Amino acid sequence: MNIIEVNNLTVNYGSVTALDNINIKIKKGEFLGIIGPNGGGKTTLLKSLLGLIDPTSGQVKVNDDRPIGYVPQFSNFDRTFPIKVLDVILLGRLEGKIKFFHKFKRNDIKRAEEIMESLDILNFKDRQISQLSGGQLQKVLIARALIMDPQVMILDEPTASLDANAKTEIYNLLKKLNIDKTIIVVSHDIGVINSYIDTVACLNKTMHYHGDDTKLGKETLESVYGCPVELIAHGNTPHRVLHVHEEEGGKK
Ligand SMILES: Nc1ncnc2c1ncn2[C@@H]1O[C@H](COP(=O)(O)OP(=O)(O)O)[C@@H](O)[C@H]1O
Ligand SMILES: [Mg+2]
Repeated sequence: MNIIEVNNLTVNYGSVTALDNINIKIKKGEFLGIIGPNGGGKTTLLKSLLGLIDPTSGQVKVNDDRPIGYVPQFSNFDRTFPIKVLDVILLGRLEGKIKFFHKFKRNDIKRAEEIMESLDILNFKDRQISQLSGGQLQKVLIARALIMDPQVMILDEPTASLDANAKTEIYNLLKKLNIDKTIIVVSHDIGVINSYIDTVACLNKTMHYHGDDTKLGKETLESVYGCPVELIAHGNTPHRVLHVHEEEGGKK
């Protein structure tokens, strides 16, 4: 069953075309990695899936009643904001209705604590978010998305500013969530995500490729990134290491 279907999606911002005639079907339970250069339209596609952007033309169909869990791009989050971990996670329950002095139900707090426990961040419950490491904060943002019990989780560059260990930890967590959820993740770490994902989508305004990541070729990658890409396969299990030109893929 396709949980998401995107048909002929085009999104323009004024005179800029961010997405040009995108088609993609995402199966229930799929772990999809989206790669592509900066400005390639990855965030725009995610926001379109979430219904946060009205398409210029085409449609996005989501075959699920539950809200989609969304972990936005890290850099858009104000880490200095004085708020504690538990409250950030509970904000996920508000569904966009921000009310001052909102009183959370006992059940919401219990659920938040269960999720924190499963993500191994319960110890930080009463800590200010400014006192967390990047990896810990990313887990808090994942917990905030999980509190609505989504079937689909969408994460925009969740490992962009993390060190190698924290990256691995986040991908292991996503793999665990993938047991009963559809996962859509934007990442530049194709070398790392290779062992986690089912399919990969290469996006640079148009969809260059969507399919089995082991069949993704060097030529496709280079045409997406517009620069040389180094692929290293080793061992029996296909393992791909992608080095893209710093300017194109390395920075946010
Ligand atoms: N709110 C906006 N207004 C105008 N242009 C935008 C806006 N958001 C994104 N863009 C442009 O759309 C293109 C795709 O951006 P984006 O989806 O953020 O790409 P990515 O996430 O792959 O880096 C870029 O050219 C970007 O400058
Ligand atoms: Mg982006």
